[in-house]
Amino acid sequence: MSINWQQYTLDELKSHATTVFREGGGSRPDVLLIEIDGERAVLKDQGGADRLFAMLIGPVLNWRECKALRKLAAVKSIPNLLSKPSSRAFLMSYHDSEQITRLTQYTPEWPAFFDKLSAAIAEIHEAGVAHNDLRNPTNTLVTADGEPILVDLVACFCRGHVWNLPNQWLFNKFSKVDLSAITKIKSKVAPELINSDDVIAEEIAGKAGMAAKGLGQWIRRLSRKLFTK
Ligand SMILES: Nc1ncnc2c1ncn2[C@@H]1O[C@H](COP(=O)(O)OP(=O)(O)OP(=O)(O)O)[C@@H](O)[C@H]1O
Ligand SMILES: [Mg+2]
Repeated sequence: MSINWQQYTLDELKSHATTVFREGGGSRPDVLLIEIDGERAVLKDQGGADRLFAMLIGPVLNWRECKALRKLAAVKSIPNLLSKPSSRAFLMSYHDSEQITRLTQYTPEWPAFFDKLSAAIAEIHEAGVAHNDLRNPTNTLVTADGEPILVDLVACFCRGHVWNLPNQWLFNKFSKVDLSAITKIKSKVAPELINSDDVIAEEIAGKAGMAAKGLGQWIRRLSRKLFTK
């Protein structure tokens, strides 16, 4: 019988951590592998960031990511939300996998893998969510069966009503940025698969978009400086 993860408090879950995927600090959460009775799950705890950041921003980030996971509950390549033991932490299904640019055990058939990755990204867009951080290759994982798993939805952008034109415009741009991540990942692991249908990042944005990207990077750097001891 599978575990009822909802019965565990945050401290109980943390006491069963067996691996640290990422140690929290600054603006970063703790990401921990939890094992209870032979079953595994992943805890992402914004409480692991520096205090001020965890207090002020942690609940918002956690809420955003849980909301996206709920919207994408039917998508096979997205972890399932298992519980939300505090306002700053959530537990999700564990997928035995490796980060796509750091594969040591698994070597997928790349053409089949990229077909599945494209299908997964199309599926999340159809469900009304642009991931928005897939250009960071640590967010695309590969399982032993060559299946893609997409994690880290904290930066996602959700599609709003059809009449909300600025939202539609942004959703469209962010969806294309997700597609450009496929090109970026191909260039690292299988450059021979890049073809004329692949989306190039610089072509999406135009001047305004590149300025927005620069502004985003600047805000990220500044918040890291401010919130990291
Ligand atoms: N459900 C999961 N199953 C297996 N491994 C996971 C899972 N979730 C996360 N990981 C591992 O933990 C790493 C970090 O997770 P994640 O990207 O969510 O955190 P993060 O990058 O610290 O978050 P943020 O970008 O919000 O600071 C992933 O790159 C992956 O190796
Ligand atoms: Mg990440």
